[in-house]
Amino acid sequence: MERTFAIIKPDAVERNITGKILGKIEEAGFTIRGMKKIHLTRKQAEGFYYVHKERPFFNDLCAFMSRSAVVVLVLERENAIAKWREVMGATNPANAEPGTIRKEFGLGIEENSAHGSDSPESAAFEIPYFFSSLELV
Ligand code: RTP
Ligand code: MG
Repeated sequence: MERTFAIIKPDAVERNITGKILGKIEEAGFTIRGMKKIHLTRKQAEGFYYVHKERPFFNDLCAFMSRSAVVVLVLERENAIAKWREVMGATNPANAEPGTIRKEFGLGIEENSAHGSDSPESAAFEIPYFFSSLELV
């Protein structure tokens, strides 16, 4: 069993499709070990995305991620990190496979509805950034 970290991003929460994305998560066989709705400050978004701080899209990304609420999740299943990225689809919804979250719900390369850890190292940073051990069941 493996755990990954996921975010339902502001564009999706704003459109009231949180439940549709949670449905995809459950259909894909993940167990939800942690879940909460929060509104990130700009500083919290910058800390989360610090690996991208030199990228040209960093400022826009942090503004987007802190403009309204998100749902943060810890998901568990076999091969969770790779599987969740498969269920989300490619970063740019235009390139995502049919049936994926980003293809069905994403609005563009930035407002792409979901986040997922990209490696065990990322998951090990991202899960405790948002959840204490007491919040994981
Ligand atoms: P994520 O971290 O959110 O799961 O997405 P990802 O691994 O597929 O993509 P990554 O390269 O880590 O980029 C993080 C997020 O930044 C936004 N982005 N905007 N304007 C752009 O060219 C651009 N490129 C990336 C997206 O919201 C992307 O998910
Ligand atoms: Mg990424």
